[in-house]
Amino acid sequence: MFVMAEKIIVGNWKANPESLREAKRILTPVRRAMGKLKQVEAVICPPAVWLGELSGGRTSGSRGSTLKYPKVEPRIRFGAQDAFWETGGAYTGMIGPTMVRNSGASHLIIGHSERRQLGDTDEVVNAKVRLALKHDLKVILCVGEKERDERGDYLKILETQLKAALAGVPRRRLGQLLVAYEPVWAIGERAKQSDTPPAFLEQAIFLRKVLADAAGKEFALALPVLYGGSATAENARGFLSEGRADGLLVGRASLDAEQFIKILRLADELG
Ligand code: PGA
Repeated sequence: MFVMAEKIIVGNWKANPESLREAKRILTPVRRAMGKLKQVEAVICPPAVWLGELSGGRTSGSRGSTLKYPKVEPRIRFGAQDAFWETGGAYTGMIGPTMVRNSGASHLIIGHSERRQLGDTDEVVNAKVRLALKHDLKVILCVGEKERDERGDYLKILETQLKAALAGVPRRRLGQLLVAYEPVWAIGERAKQSDTPPAFLEQAIFLRKVLADAAGKEFALALPVLYGGSATAENARGFLSEGRADGLLVGRASLDAEQFIKILRLADELG
């Protein structure tokens, strides 16, 4: 079985916190803790308005210029939570993937269930994925079923979401892809429970198989598959060891620096 060396812990802050000051209050201890960890990569995804300031990596790059990654702790990366399928133009309220990169981000979450809920279809997700990959971002593609039926029909949903998101993506770009398996019923405050590590392991194997059929075994084996949905300091070990997750996509628990650091330390230990 292919084992990924370094675990990847993504903090999806969603529409929180309300001020840059509070954002820094969360990030500062995380940064400090990361200075001592060797086997884990943290990807912090704050609201896009705080991205440049927090990453310290705003670049002046304009279209076509050489974009630079920011100089921050080697294992802290930054990501945005969404970006549009055009780099710019007359699209009020939208943010393009090159803007995201020019704000110091290396990663971009696409297809989160909360975005899908707001209208992102598989087609929209695909357009966003293609453009983000083209502009050298690492894409954290979220897939997940709304309900888990006993017959296993939900696997069809995962397959459709993954295949649709990657339609037309050149093979050479697949190394920039991470998949987060996030069952919708396990996400957020209303979720009654997280998934279980054995079930996650099954879905991860299934997703790799879908990618293997579509693009070849080597890509499938190298694909990082993360778990998301009520991930906490308590259940992280289960997903990362028994579930063999390559990492976690953490929502609520990423806003609590103490808890997030616990998860990072655990991942470092297991990485
Ligand atoms: P949660 O969110 O950890 O708060 O359930 C996860 C996510 O939506 O990515």
